[in-house]
Amino acid sequence: MTCCDKFFLVLAGVGCLLSLSVRMPGATKSQIHKQPFGKIADQSAIDLFTLTNAQGMEARIMTYGGTVVSLKVPDRTGKMGDVVLGHDTLEGYLKNNPYLGSIIGRYGNRIAKGRFSLGGHAYTLAKNDGENHLHGGIRGFDKVVWKAKEIRNKDGVGLALTYLSKDGEEGYPGNLAVTVVYTLTNQNELKIEYSATTDKETVVNLTNHSYFNLAGSGSILNHEVMINADRFNPVDKGLIPTGELRSVKGTPMDFTTPTAIGARINQQDEQLVLGKGYDHNWVLNRTGDALELAVRVVEPSSGRVMEVHTTEPGVQFYTGNFLDGSIKGKGGHAYEQRSAFCLETQHFPNSPNQPKFPSTVLKPGQKYTSATAYKFSAQ
Ligand code: GLA
Repeated sequence: MTCCDKFFLVLAGVGCLLSLSVRMPGATKSQIHKQPFGKIADQSAIDLFTLTNAQGMEARIMTYGGTVVSLKVPDRTGKMGDVVLGHDTLEGYLKNNPYLGSIIGRYGNRIAKGRFSLGGHAYTLAKNDGENHLHGGIRGFDKVVWKAKEIRNKDGVGLALTYLSKDGEEGYPGNLAVTVVYTLTNQNELKIEYSATTDKETVVNLTNHSYFNLAGSGSILNHEVMINADRFNPVDKGLIPTGELRSVKGTPMDFTTPTAIGARINQQDEQLVLGKGYDHNWVLNRTGDALELAVRVVEPSSGRVMEVHTTEPGVQFYTGNFLDGSIKGKGGHAYEQRSAFCLETQHFPNSPNQPKFPSTVLKPGQKYTSATAYKFSAQ
């Protein structure tokens, strides 16, 4: 072997090593990594799971609140960016936290005056939003510790989270056994499948409260939104639906064609004034029971696109109207008003008191199921 041959041999070896340690985009192996994320006041240990799919998309989910802590997706140049609000540490989530990324239950959204009747019994819930009940109460599913099991299958990687909500918890009847399966698929989707069973008649309406900003930071007013809905639920001053299913036609609630969030948000429209922006449930156009396209959002500068597909009849589109810069999130960033939006797939708010809305009642022997997929791409 000449000196030259030796040189090339060494070069080839180094090349081999490099190709092993440098992950090319698109060549990543899907994986799950678990790490401790601190303890809550009662000393329960919280775990943080990092899921990575074959395309390098990454989702971090913790067992406190079943919370999506971060979601890194590529822009049109392939550059990864975190598209959800959150905190760097568990402590951030334990302070004043407006449900950033959490699972919401037992009842996502509002129940008027914290009251409902079922099977001849009157139930009283906490009034934690003015005179109304919001997002499951004082200690909703966003503040409990979920048990996690790792999932690896041909679709991708995931976590099955389980929680047993005891009879009477937050005032709701029945022992409710809940499972939430998060799957990060190799097609760049974060899929969430909810299921629950009860031993007493109860109400259930589960959702996820991720705050999205597809640019990664800044205002969301340039994001273009399409909502597949011809009607919405107008609300009163407590953001409780009046019961009417109103046509969006000719109103700033019409997102049937893609429209920038900021195009009409400051109009002196009665509903926008009541919501301080968009904070309403849209009645989705549906053809069946399967996952159907509900919302499509495009962020023009990064090219990121998010589609929301769901089995639910409604979606709450909330434009972060109550954010006011007082919460310092990841990297110390102040979360300003309208710096993120939520798309909470759900049954309509206050359904337990609106017999004409699709029912949220779950009886013993039945199984509650709901699924939503957030699909990411770039254009
Ligand atoms: C939901 C509600 C909003 C607000 C947020 C949390 O999206 O509809 O009114 O309460 O949760 O701040």
